[in-house]
Amino acid sequence: MLESLRGLGYTTAAALADIVDNSISVGATEVRLNFNWNGASSWVMVLDNGWGMEDSELESAMRLGDRNPLEKRERADLGRFGMGLKTASFSQCRRLTVASVKNGATSCLRWDLDALAAKPDGGWLLFEGPSQGSESYLAPISQMKSGTIVLWETMDRIVTDGYTSDDFNDLIDRVEQHFAMVFHRLIQGPSARLKILLNGKPVVPWDPFMTGHAAKTWDSPIAKTATQSGIVEVECHVLPHRDKLTPAEFDAGGGPEGWTAQQGIYVYRNERLLVAGGWLGLGQGRAWNREEAYRLARIRLDIPNTADAEWKIDIRKSTARPPVSLRPWLTRLAEDTRERARRVFAYRGSPAPGLGGSSVEQAWRVEHSKSGARYKIDEKHPVVSAVLGGAGELLPMVKAMLRVVEETVPVQRIWLDTVENKETPRTGFLGEPPEKVVAVLKTIYADMVGRRGISSDSAKKMLAVTEPFQNYLGLVAGLPDEPAQDGQ
Ligand SMILES: Nc1ncnc2c1ncn2[C@@H]1O[C@H](COP(=O)(O)OP(=O)(O)OP(=O)(O)O)[C@@H](O)[C@H]1O
Ligand SMILES: [Mg+2]
Repeated sequence: MLESLRGLGYTTAAALADIVDNSISVGATEVRLNFNWNGASSWVMVLDNGWGMEDSELESAMRLGDRNPLEKRERADLGRFGMGLKTASFSQCRRLTVASVKNGATSCLRWDLDALAAKPDGGWLLFEGPSQGSESYLAPISQMKSGTIVLWETMDRIVTDGYTSDDFNDLIDRVEQHFAMVFHRLIQGPSARLKILLNGKPVVPWDPFMTGHAAKTWDSPIAKTATQSGIVEVECHVLPHRDKLTPAEFDAGGGPEGWTAQQGIYVYRNERLLVAGGWLGLGQGRAWNREEAYRLARIRLDIPNTADAEWKIDIRKSTARPPVSLRPWLTRLAEDTRERARRVFAYRGSPAPGLGGSSVEQAWRVEHSKSGARYKIDEKHPVVSAVLGGAGELLPMVKAMLRVVEETVPVQRIWLDTVENKETPRTGFLGEPPEKVVAVLKTIYADMVGRRGISSDSAKKMLAVTEPFQNYLGLVAGLPDEPAQDGQ
């Protein structure tokens, strides 16, 4: 059975997080993880300053299923199944030693799968004290009044054939990233209640919601709903578009798995992250996938540990499923957030023309019909209508030209470029120097005021609501009152 339990499917990072959960549940304010490379004899240690265990408590802790999952737990307890310490450890190592000190008394017990396998009829032997030669690993505990060390040795699932110290270092990086994410709320801020050190280096939190970033697009008000198993709290976020972030911020914002994978709902239980994104099987008709266009949508969802059964929390603390009764509510909130995020993605962080109450004169119209969409130039756009009005005998040619432009919109190319670059192509003078915008503005302005006799004040007002100049209000306001006659 112990061998079978090794296959629960933990990653090393998730297994270590399960060990640290225990430390947090027993009031630890500091957890130190040490990774020591020594080939097949490498070892990992988790040391916490929680309240520790006495002999009998440690003996119980080493038992599988030592607590009934139906039991009510302390509000801040991150445990549920009475399994994690054992299942997480065995998923990575064959020897698990736990030493704990409480009220000055130290106890130490050890599971050793190799020793058990060597004597199949010997019963469930739990050994006392560290393995021979490993005594020094437990030295830190002798200086503590209370606390616990969890020691993993014979890490056969980590140090496999051909595994090198480089791989071990990569593993440490992955654990660091995972911890920065799953414990970010516990280790964040000056009054953080927990400090996690990885080989002596503090883990820096990764906040999926970029709280406090100046370019943050949108935060919803906090929504709460009462369920039979406690209160569920949701806060929806739309993150800033790439254009509003520095390359370093964009890189960091993507998180361990990158922007597309990290979109969606973040489920926290007692402020510890269980699920980092994805749409939890929600959707209208078909379940939503993680798609590029929605990558700026991230939703914080908090559940209490009284909701474990209803949310189908698993032993690894890496899945959660919303109860059926909450799905319509969550779907509504998520749909609204996704739509907002899609607009920010599509319009690269600028307000979408024609949205948000202001009516902007658009240059393009989309005609939807049964057979699909067509893109048409809007003849009401002030610049287009001015050209048509002043075209004279050229009018048929100008119309023919517009039709050619409409019929050759490079939609396939745009679509491919969007997919390949994970970004919509640049439009609306994005990234162009202001002179280029001003040059075009002046030409149009001169025609409005000079040829058509519109007052300079009205002309500016019109330009301020004309695509794409609605994003350049400063440049519009800066146009001279008397335009140059040649339009330059
Ligand atoms: N670092 C620790 N310090 C003090 N007590 C601990 C520590 N780790 C584990 N324990 C005790 O051992 C018990 C068993 O831990 P284990 O992780 O196996 O189960 P759990 O945390 O109760 O539930 P889950 O299976 O959901 O993690 C805990 O309930 C706790 O009482
Ligand atoms: Mg646990």
